[in-house]
Parts: sequence; C-alpha cells; structure tokens
Amino acid sequence: MYASFKSIGAYVPKKTLTNSDLEKIVDTTDEWITKRTGIKNRHIADDNEFTSDMALEASKIAIERAGINKNDIDGIIVATITPDNFCMPSTACVLADKLGIYNVMAFDVSAACSGFVYILNIAKSLIESGANKNILIVGAEKLSSIIDYEDRSTCVIFGDGAGAAIIGTTEDKSKSILDVHISSDGRYGDLLITPGGGSARPCSVDMLKSRAQYLKMSGNETFKIAVKTLSEDVINILAKNKLNANAVDHFIPHQANLRIIEAVRSKLNFPKEKTVLTIEKYGNTSAASIPMALNDAYEKGNIKKGELMLFDTFGGGFTWGSALVYFG
Ligand code: UT7
Repeated sequence: MYASFKSIGAYVPKKTLTNSDLEKIVDTTDEWITKRTGIKNRHIADDNEFTSDMALEASKIAIERAGINKNDIDGIIVATITPDNFCMPSTACVLADKLGIYNVMAFDVSAACSGFVYILNIAKSLIESGANKNILIVGAEKLSSIIDYEDRSTCVIFGDGAGAAIIGTTEDKSKSILDVHISSDGRYGDLLITPGGGSARPCSVDMLKSRAQYLKMSGNETFKIAVKTLSEDVINILAKNKLNANAVDHFIPHQANLRIIEAVRSKLNFPKEKTVLTIEKYGNTSAASIPMALNDAYEKGNIKKGELMLFDTFGGGFTWGSALVYFG
C-alpha cells in the first residue's frame, strides 16, 4: 500500500495589501519590492478571521475534491507558525471541531515555511505503516499577526492564506507520493526568528515594547543559504529516485523570493513553463505557499492525475525539504 496525494484545496483572504499600499506605510518602493522579491500583492486576513478559519475553507474544498466523507478522515495535521492560540489547543484541534470531526489524531507541526513538506512526510509514513487511511494535511498562516509593519525588510514579503490536501491510499505506485526528504540545521536559528513570547522570553511589557513578538529575518544570509541548500536537496532527491529534471511535469517551489526560485530552476534546467509561480499575487505565505501554488495550478487546469510534481521548501529553523509526488 502506498500513500497518495488525493486532492488539493486553498483559501485566500479577500483583503489585499499591494506594493503601493506598502509605499504609504514604510520607506519602500514598488520598484524595489518587485525587483528584489517578485512580489506585487499579498492577501491579509481580517481581524476576526483566524488561521483555523482559513484552514477550514481550504479543507472543505480538499475533502470535497477527494470524494470522501469527512467521517473517513482519521487524522488531521496542521503546519503553522501562526496558530490560533499560543500553546493550546492546537489549530488542528480547533479545525477538527470546526469541521465536526471528533475522536481522531489532531496535532500541529512547527517547521516554519517547510511545514507542508514536513507534514506530507509524516502523513506518508503514517499511511504506509497502516496506522491511518485518510489524513487531512493543512498549511495555514496568518503571518500578518506576527509581522512588524514598521520593518520594511520583512513586511513587504509575507501574506496570509491556507492550503489543504487529503493524503489517502493507493496500490498503484504511479499515483503515489514517491519520496519526501526533510531536514534541518538549528545552528542558523537566529537568522529567522520570533524572539519574544516563548518560554525563553515570555510575554511582558518590556518584551512587547522591544517588538520582540514579531518575526525578524536576516534576509540576505537566509537567501544565500536557501539557494545553496535547495539546489542540493532537489538534485539529491532526483538522483536518489534515478530521475532527471525532464521527468518532472510541475516544479512547485516554496514561494519565498522569485530570485531564489529562478536560481534553483536554472541550476536544474527546468523550463519556465513547468514552474508554478504565485509569489507575485500572494507573497510568501510560509507553510501555506506550496499547497496554495498547487491549488492555483490545479484550478487553471494545469495539473492532471498521474503527473509528477516536485516540491521544494526552505524556512526558519533552518528547515528544508523536497518531495516527488504523483498527483493522485
Ligand atoms: O521563506 C522563508 C525563507 N525566507 C527567505 O528565503 C527569504 C530570503 N531573503 C530574501 O528574500 C531577500 O534577502 C530580501 C528580499 C529579504 C532582501 O533582499 P536583498 O537583496 O537580500 O536585500 P538586502 O537585505 O541585502 O538589503 C539591500 C538594501 C539595504 O539597504 P543598504 O544597506 O544597501 O542601504 C536595505 O536596507 O535594501 C534595503 N531594503 C529595502 N529598501 C527598500 C531592505 N528592505 C527594503 C525595502 N524597500 N522593503
């Protein structure tokens, strides 16, 4: 029995934040943002719209497209760094309640932008071990809740959204999740960090005054390590599976920065038309970015059953990963 990627769904909040909106908030220009990141727009959740609400909308679509009943789901895993609640309950438990699914495994995974590939690996392992039959995996982020809109080096990059998938079973290897690789290196933790609010620096007036509750990124150093690590990771997963880049129908990278995507794409010689790009309209939505990009391509009719997708991702921790997945 193999694990199979059965369906995809996504949700994008209505409110938008364009580069020209940002020009009025911080010292930046549309030209700088476009040239350095490829981003033109991002979507921002309403104050009363939580990570679990976006996850819910994406999940409903993924469940319907998988053609299963919600009662067939025996596990829910949410990848997020912006859970509804600090500590507990997990966003997965909140989502389970909103979906009306009870008495199943439900938990969150914190692996920053790599979260979706991490939970894909966990779901694949659980399905292939026989422990589960249908797992709902969701990458969902309300990054606007941890972004400092006084910090031009981060606020121009991130946006909100959610993407969900059903991971089920198949006996047909050509419809399976072929391989997933995930990894990390904690020595780089300080380069992408939310320093305040955890047990190391609990919530206090001083902590809030220093704005330590917000995401901090050493962008340029992160950029260089991301390009090197991602290129190697993608080359390795293809070699391990005795495939070359031509075998891949769709390259669906984490949408962090257009220049990172272009660097990896050109190292692998992937043609542009095989590369799914949504960064221009959604920005970087962390754990939600790959499923949102995949959903975009799917809704345009570009992804067909049995086609081979390659995911790659890199994020805080540092964490990274890649996956070769037949669309099941
Ligand atoms: O998804 C998780 C992983 N994250 C990533 O992979 C993100 C990786 N990093 C990046 O995408 C890029 O490094 C950034 C887009 C964040 C920054 O681009 P960069 O080309 O690395 O710029 P930089 O940080 O080296 O800054 C260059 C200049 C600086 O000015 P000086 O010191 O040269 O005078 C910055 O202060 O650009 C300035 N700058 C800005 N200027 C206008 C930084 N942010 C802005 C801004 N508008 N928004």
